[in-house]
Amino acid sequence: MLILAIESSCDDTAAAVLEPGHRVRSSIISSQNDIHSLFGGIVPELASRRHIEMIRPVVDQALTQAGTTLDDIGLIAATQGPGLVGSLLVGFTFAKALALVRGLPCVGVDHMAGHLLSCLMEDCRPEFPYTALIASGGNTSLFTVESPLAFTRLGRTRDDAAGEAFDKVAKLLDLGYPGGPVISRLAAKGNPSAIRFPRSRLGAHSLDFSFSGLKTSVATYVETQRRGNQALAISDICASFQEAVVEVLVDKTLEAAHQTGHKRIVLGGGVAANPRLRELLSERCDSQSLGLFMPSLDYCTDNAAMIGVAGYYRYLANQLVDADSDAYSRSPLN
Ligand code: KG4
Repeated sequence: MLILAIESSCDDTAAAVLEPGHRVRSSIISSQNDIHSLFGGIVPELASRRHIEMIRPVVDQALTQAGTTLDDIGLIAATQGPGLVGSLLVGFTFAKALALVRGLPCVGVDHMAGHLLSCLMEDCRPEFPYTALIASGGNTSLFTVESPLAFTRLGRTRDDAAGEAFDKVAKLLDLGYPGGPVISRLAAKGNPSAIRFPRSRLGAHSLDFSFSGLKTSVATYVETQRRGNQALAISDICASFQEAVVEVLVDKTLEAAHQTGHKRIVLGGGVAANPRLRELLSERCDSQSLGLFMPSLDYCTDNAAMIGVAGYYRYLANQLVDADSDAYSRSPLN
């Protein structure tokens, strides 16, 4: 039996085929960056419309690339939430309808659970329990992961998510959308100590995050420079901003591991693709003899393979959905 997994929570239409467990046969992602970059952010209505166009071809491509057909599929898993409901409904309804027609079991997966388990697709995978940082465009939270079905949130952002801060800073610098990849590219050429942007810690032992003050501070700096007709040193701004985000993410992740006593740390979400975050977290984990598990870049940003992994465990626990199950916008995990 093979698993067909579908993800459509935000602006990527994705499908994957997996062998039971963690072996990925195919993982297809159709990005919508071309339409949303025109607006500097995601336009929900356009996202759902593109999902409707792409869901069928993306699923077909995942099956073809896996060298299989629907006849070999024994389980369908799809993201049920959180995310944009219009987007979620396309993938989730497609999955439920396909399962109904083919007489297959169907599981709904929480997108956060997918990110929390994405490291399990790697050859070197963590044992349970572990402490996880999930940082994406919609979420920035710390969790303990006791098993593939047991997650407890330790802290979360009180305002912007880390990826959202990257996207908003990119927008105010006219760098396009999504902001993370372009900022990290420019930051590599800049000086991270050029501008001292604030690090919001919210108390010595707090595991919550706040990035809106940092974003405002970058906006104020840029406005002041522009008003004084000063040239903007874009690479330095990017490097200094990135350093402020990364330092806080790393410090709080290590504080969380200290509080849980876990010896293993897992990273996930789109911001986990950031090279400086990966570098600093690796250095700090090495110096404290903590095991660090990071998904490969393909599995950091939204993908359906991680939904297949999380979905398989829900299937084993008999947590199936039926035709009436609905998508949800906010995660009960978060
Ligand atoms: O997980 P994801 O694909 O979608 C969700 O938000 O669920 O994450 C996308 C986010 C965007 O905000 C994007 O700017 C950010 O991840 N991102 C990065 C990098 N690559 C993607 N942020 C910082 N550095 C990167 N290299």
